Amino acid sequence: MKTKAFSILLNFLFIWNIETLTSVKRPCQPRKMNCITITSKKMHGQNFTEKDIKAQKKDIKHVKCLQVRDAKIRFIEKALFSKLVNLSELCLTNLSMEENTIKDGLLNINKTKLSQLSLDNVGLDSSILEDLHLFLPKSLEHLVLRNNVISFFSTDYISKTDTQILDLSFNINLSLIMNRTIPSLTHLILSYSGFRWNTTFQINGTCVFPNLSVLHLEGNEVNLSAVDIKNNCFAKIISLYLNRCRFIVPINSESFSFFPNLEHLYMNGITNMVQLPTFSNTKNLLTLSINDVVNNFFQPSTDNMKCFQNLKNLQYLEMRKWNMTSWKSDQLCVLFTPVANTLKKMDLTSTGLGSIPRIISQMNNLKTLKLNNNRISKLDYMSKQTNKNLTTLWLPYNLIELVDPNSIPPSVTNFNLKGNPFRCTCELMPYKNWILERKLQKIVQDWQTSYHCFEPLDWKGKSLDEFKPKVTDCQPFNQYVITAIVLCCLMVVVVITTNVYVKLRKSHRKGRSLKSYGACEEQKLLETS
Ligand SMILES: *[C@@H]1O[C@H](CO)[C@@H](O)[C@H](O)[C@H]1NC(C)=O
Ligand SMILES: *[C@@H]1O[C@H](CO)[C@@H](O)[C@H](O)[C@H]1NC(C)=O
Ligand SMILES: *[C@@H]1O[C@H](CO)[C@@H](O)[C@H](O)[C@H]1NC(C)=O
Ligand SMILES: *[C@@H]1O[C@H](CO)[C@@H](O)[C@H](O)[C@H]1NC(C)=O
Repeated sequence: MKTKAFSILLNFLFIWNIETLTSVKRPCQPRKMNCITITSKKMHGQNFTEKDIKAQKKDIKHVKCLQVRDAKIRFIEKALFSKLVNLSELCLTNLSMEENTIKDGLLNINKTKLSQLSLDNVGLDSSILEDLHLFLPKSLEHLVLRNNVISFFSTDYISKTDTQILDLSFNINLSLIMNRTIPSLTHLILSYSGFRWNTTFQINGTCVFPNLSVLHLEGNEVNLSAVDIKNNCFAKIISLYLNRCRFIVPINSESFSFFPNLEHLYMNGITNMVQLPTFSNTKNLLTLSINDVVNNFFQPSTDNMKCFQNLKNLQYLEMRKWNMTSWKSDQLCVLFTPVANTLKKMDLTSTGLGSIPRIISQMNNLKTLKLNNNRISKLDYMSKQTNKNLTTLWLPYNLIELVDPNSIPPSVTNFNLKGNPFRCTCELMPYKNWILERKLQKIVQDWQTSYHCFEPLDWKGKSLDEFKPKVTDCQPFNQYVITAIVLCCLMVVVVITTNVYVKLRKSHRKGRSLKSYGACEEQKLLETS
């Protein structure tokens, strides 16, 4: 029980998410080397003034990036940031201030070269914002207002800027008032804001964000039948993030029919799905991430078997925690055949699979395969000749006892077998040697902590690192060696006896010929004398 919980925890920890690949970097993140960061330790009092910045950089005209975070500030000096004439990136994060002081601080900020502004968790509300927006400079491209208490945001606020990315996530009960067209906007982030997605983003028949390509709506309420319609404003959307959304109209086979350019769709942790969409009008889809879908009744029905048939370009597929125990190998083959040539990454963690689906051996572009936490006992169908692009093969927490190195595609370097019940006999040595020969140090390190012998009794519980049987125990050619040694000895004996025999015979014959010779000699001597 304990080990199971532990294994689930571990499993959770090393699940790698493709979302991190495509998400937008926020201003001042990751912590930039050339960005001046001021925390409470570097402050001179509760008032934030020019002195605090000068203590970090003498000539404040050269400050391009400034971050103030995790500090108790009562007041900000009036128009402080406007003095930093070359400022292009400003981030205020986790500050608790007197109300309205942020307005004073940002006064005349439009005199700077500000292009990225982040006001994250600074107690901003709608009324402060209403005044603040007047100072937003034309040069502004990335505006982050997350983690505040904004309940009302009008597109008017950014209509005089070049804002491309707008982040209003983690506000309370946000209403977005769309009264002005913002052609510059490409990324809109409204996750966990209480925003209800039930409009097509139009005013009087024109699109408010005509160039919108990335839309984040995680954790919000979605009425798909109000937005997935003809002539909506989502024709240019490439990435759509709907993780943990509440779909008030269930997702069915016809869903996502009016997102013609959609390439990346994330719907992890959702509840209301009666059928996987067929994506008949969404043929450019590259990424489909549908992990942890609650109550998925994914039976191998005729419809379900054909559900990927339109996805001729799919490269990334994540279906963690789908219950696929009733799928047979042939049925999985039908399911994955349409995407077999294009998939680069596939994650079927915790799907109850009892063996590696045969179709996987035909996936020539596959680079990453994750089959964590299933009931797989062998590397079936895979070999040195298959999956020539596969580098990452993860099968932790399965039922693998032994590994035949001949079944590992040679390009694999990240081969995770943590938590499998290894049978520590001589037959395991080819696997150990394979890893050691390739110098896969990470795996060798993990042997000490996460790889254990399950059988036989005398090794049970020991780590794979400790499992070092005596060389003589594991010489597969032992019998031959012994036979060879015996044969050698025999040969030596034979050679010696033959030699002795030959020598004896020779000396015997020599004696005789000597005799005759002697006789001749005698004769000669006699003759010469
Ligand atoms: C901090 O600023 C406020 C408002 O500008 C001012 O009233 C107060 O005297 C300042 N406190 C100190 C210690 O400078
Ligand atoms: C959210 O705002 C709407 C009006 O926009 C209001 O009716 C509703 O009660 C609010 N909900 C919460 C939880 O504050
Ligand atoms: C969802 O949107 C459709 C179409 O606009 C509408 O008819 C329906 O009432 C909405 N459902 C809910 C629960 O709001
Ligand atoms: C491996 O992938 C590359 C492109 O990603 C592709 O050109 C190549 O054909 C693949 N290898 C095999 C053996 O299919």
